[in-house]
Amino acid sequence: MGKVTWKPGTFVYPLPVVMVTCGDMENSNIITVAWTGIINSDPAMVYISIRPERYSYELIKKTGEFAINLTNEKLTYATDWCGVKSGAKADKFKEMKLTKERLSVIKCPGIKESPVSIECKVKEIKKLGTHHMIISEVLAINASEEYIDEKGAFDIGKCDLIAYANGRYYSLGEQLGTFGYSVKKD
Ligand SMILES: Cc1cc2nc3c(=O)[nH]c(=O)nc-3n(C[C@H](O)[C@H](O)[C@H](O)COP(=O)(O)O)c2cc1C
Repeated sequence: MGKVTWKPGTFVYPLPVVMVTCGDMENSNIITVAWTGIINSDPAMVYISIRPERYSYELIKKTGEFAINLTNEKLTYATDWCGVKSGAKADKFKEMKLTKERLSVIKCPGIKESPVSIECKVKEIKKLGTHHMIISEVLAINASEEYIDEKGAFDIGKCDLIAYANGRYYSLGEQLGTFGYSVKKD
């Protein structure tokens, strides 16, 4: 069978789907974001792309910081909900029974129930079109002790992280290999 050709679109899937927290401990919000990723290793830099009309956009612009909270199977419902409701009308932490967690550097809270919360500082905002790409530096990573073994190693496979592809949420399934395994000598 051949391939059909479609007009241009965003089809780089799967993607992580994350819960981005913004604001401060008193006035905070959660926005679900799938247009996100790593853009540099050292300094560690990431991006989130957000439509400027989102309630969260102004909060992030004003404070210059936010946290990326990784999502897992247990958080799938809340991830979707925080992506269809606005913080202008709902307290998403309260409605989804999520716990605000003080982070190490930024004033914005993380989500305690998330396995990993990544503290970010805004460096540059690129107005691309529908979305503004918020290019940010990672200031700290907070990993849940639940997934750290007695040797201090973080077992990402135990986090039950989820992915997003073409409007659907997926669990990650089985590990298929490790970095460089294709060239590893026995
Ligand atoms: C799976 C999923 C992924 C989303 N990804 C993005 C995104 O990358 N950028 C964006 O601006 N909005 C995205 N949204 C939409 C926002 O999360 C949604 O409009 C949200 O209600 C905005 O919240 P706020 O008004 O409290 O800021 C996504 C929603 C879902 C459900």
